[in-house]
Amino acid sequence: MDFKLSIGQMIENAMTAVYETAAMTATEIAQALEIPPDTAMGDYAFPCFRLSKSLRKSPMMISDALAAAIKDPMLARVESVKGYLNFFIDRATFAETVISRALNEGTHYGSNDCGAGKSVVIDYSSINIAKRFHIGHLSTTMIGNALYRLHKFFGYNAVGVNHLGDWGTQFGKMIAAYKMWGNKEEVEAGGVDAMVKLYVRFNSEAEAKPEMNDIGRAWFKKIEDDDEEALSIFNWFKEVTLKDAERVYDLLGVTFDSYAGESFYNDKMQPIIDDLAAKGLLKEDQGAQIVDLEPYGMAPALILRSDGATLYITRDLAAAKYRKDTYDFDKSLYVVAYQQDLHFRQLFKVLELMGYDWYKNCEHVSFGMVSYEGQTLSTREGRVVYLEDLLNTSIQKALEIIKEKSPELENKEEIARQIGVGSVIFFSLYNSRIKDIDFRWDRALNFDGETAPYVMYTHARCCSVLRKAGENTAAPDYTALADPEAQDVIRLIEQFPGIALNALNRSEPSMITRFSVDLSQAYNKFYFEHKVMVDEPGVRSARIKLTEAARSVIALALDLIGIAAPEKM
Ligand code: ARG
Repeated sequence: MDFKLSIGQMIENAMTAVYETAAMTATEIAQALEIPPDTAMGDYAFPCFRLSKSLRKSPMMISDALAAAIKDPMLARVESVKGYLNFFIDRATFAETVISRALNEGTHYGSNDCGAGKSVVIDYSSINIAKRFHIGHLSTTMIGNALYRLHKFFGYNAVGVNHLGDWGTQFGKMIAAYKMWGNKEEVEAGGVDAMVKLYVRFNSEAEAKPEMNDIGRAWFKKIEDDDEEALSIFNWFKEVTLKDAERVYDLLGVTFDSYAGESFYNDKMQPIIDDLAAKGLLKEDQGAQIVDLEPYGMAPALILRSDGATLYITRDLAAAKYRKDTYDFDKSLYVVAYQQDLHFRQLFKVLELMGYDWYKNCEHVSFGMVSYEGQTLSTREGRVVYLEDLLNTSIQKALEIIKEKSPELENKEEIARQIGVGSVIFFSLYNSRIKDIDFRWDRALNFDGETAPYVMYTHARCCSVLRKAGENTAAPDYTALADPEAQDVIRLIEQFPGIALNALNRSEPSMITRFSVDLSQAYNKFYFEHKVMVDEPGVRSARIKLTEAARSVIALALDLIGIAAPEKM
């Protein structure tokens, strides 16, 4: 049952009875309902100011009249206060309805079929070949993964794309360096680090001998021309990079449906360029081909350089079209840092100018920067934190904490992995995504803060209560859950479906992360104020049910953001 909608219906009915006209429908009313900051003011409130114009009465008169006309077994009472209708739901009915629903629907609680029959393409992580996976790619990876899971939860056919950065003249230089100084074993063993070393050496030697750059360019030309040797080295570089990245993805539990990166679009750009030309959108500018975006207050989109080379945006145009043609998406999301804001505005504008009205369904899901212990990171200045190192340190630290806190715990290594990884994921999904974040160990791994360990620990606490409770056959007495602590837990559980839907519509996983903390705090408060295993079977049974529901919804929330919920910690 949807409480808001039921109340909407009560108000609509009362309005029709009193004024012989319904100025708003039940659904509209349900959407306008407010949740008072304090339960003493009711569970839901409706501001009658919205009705006063069409009903030609003061809000006070309306709320008085409607309050007198509303009676329902679901309600403990209705009050009219200064133009507000305050609804007090019968506590026991509320508890029973919400808890039963959460338990019956289990891992589907809060979902609906709004995504059924629809596809969403999510471009996330999108790492670059021959570069180490560093903390700068943490947010895109985790926000994207959470959105991927969230869309699946709502029934979407989700397609996760890792749009690999695998094109550019630097790869020609890398091959040249490899031919001169590299060897297979070193690169196999050293992975991306070995490639980076070769590249750095090439650049420093090229400073004294600029003609080396020509060799690099020649190798890149060979990649472009499908030369067998060039391609086999290049593809091998890709494999090695992905093998390194795969270790990180495995730890994080992140998967993709496609690794079609920039180079995949090599043979798919010409039709786009022809189309741009045919639509009169291409303009020559100092030998280059551009789309003029000045009328829209943006720098021009550079489509072809004067030497005929294509650019990042040219590939993205081809990719957008390819994704539409291949997946017929209802939404296409790009989870990319806000530094690329202009790029995506240009991209969407060019798609619009080309007459692709599905440009409206493309969205840049941008996010802020990550710094580390107060330091901004910069590859150029050598301040980098590799994600794999960060995760392994986190796991190590979690293991030390477990050894100290729960020396008895079985499979400590596995639990440490879940806590360590969960802490990093949680940290990247805690703030609304547009905020810059500063990774700090004392915050990420704190068992008492707004952290993964805290939420995971609350989940394990619920599990432990349920283990001790054993089989629960007594009929629950839901009037025993009328206390404010239990009611807070129930209210939060009741809000979960709305929060999950909001998170989906705003592409904002942090709403779920925060919810998991709120629910954990509410449950812990309940746990410390009330004993679950009391003698009275009806009361005990109701508290066990509450614990089951809290456990289930915490696990669900964690699962949606890609974090494990161990039963013991
Ligand atoms: N590889 C790029 C980077 O690391 C991100 C690519 C994002 N996706 C896209 N379709 N442009 O900055």
